[in-house]
Amino acid sequence: MSLALYTVPDAAGLGELGASFIEVLVRDRPASVLGLATGSSPLPVYRALAAHELDLSRVSAFALDEYVGLPAGSPQSYAAVIDREVTRPLGLDPDRVAVPEGCAQDPAQAAEAFEARLEDAGGVDLQLLGIGHNGHLAFNEPGSPLDSRTRVQRLSETTRRANARFFASPAEVPRFCITQGLGTIRRARHLLLLVRGGDKAGILKRALTGPVTTDCPASILQLHQRVTVIADEAAASGLAGLEEALLPPV
Ligand code: GLP
Repeated sequence: MSLALYTVPDAAGLGELGASFIEVLVRDRPASVLGLATGSSPLPVYRALAAHELDLSRVSAFALDEYVGLPAGSPQSYAAVIDREVTRPLGLDPDRVAVPEGCAQDPAQAAEAFEARLEDAGGVDLQLLGIGHNGHLAFNEPGSPLDSRTRVQRLSETTRRANARFFASPAEVPRFCITQGLGTIRRARHLLLLVRGGDKAGILKRALTGPVTTDCPASILQLHQRVTVIADEAAASGLAGLEEALLPPV
């Protein structure tokens, strides 16, 4: 593993630093492939990037996951979130933005089609990630195989509860999703994990320094050749004193 850990004071710092990684990549390769994450952690990055004068019109982008079973166009769908927070404000070409098709007649087939499209694009250059309280990456819940591909998954009750804040009532949170697999995520050339808040300190420490195990899907970061973590001070608090054990930035 090559891990660079950056601690920033707040969401604005996380946003600026995260945006700078995207800027460096896209200035070098205007037609690069970005991996997009939803959840609240990456939002400051998208907002900071909107203030950069960067032409993203040739970038291709792939979302990590999507709910299954929401009505098409539902504002809570990740397709809608990506459109609202990323595609429009950042000027991406909607034809180059792919989100797993959660309202497809056959979600399993839609998952396979998504994985094939990602492979055809040559894989992801820079994958943004958040981490769930139970260590999930995208919607890969504990128990997900470390080499899994894009597929339909049942959401854990922990995740459904955590995501209820985006819905009118907890009962409305879907029970299934399509998610990139841990194997899919591991094929991205650079992983950029964004972590905010003291409630993530324990799981971040476990992911980076605990055993690599399906019990903690984010522990796959330790198997990757290039990982950057940007954490606010609260989220990084569990890593105090461990910086030296982690490899220096590349
Ligand atoms: C969701 C998403 C994940 C995200 C996680 C953490 O369940 N599917 O991709 O990383 O929640 O979200 P947040 O950043 O809001 O804590």
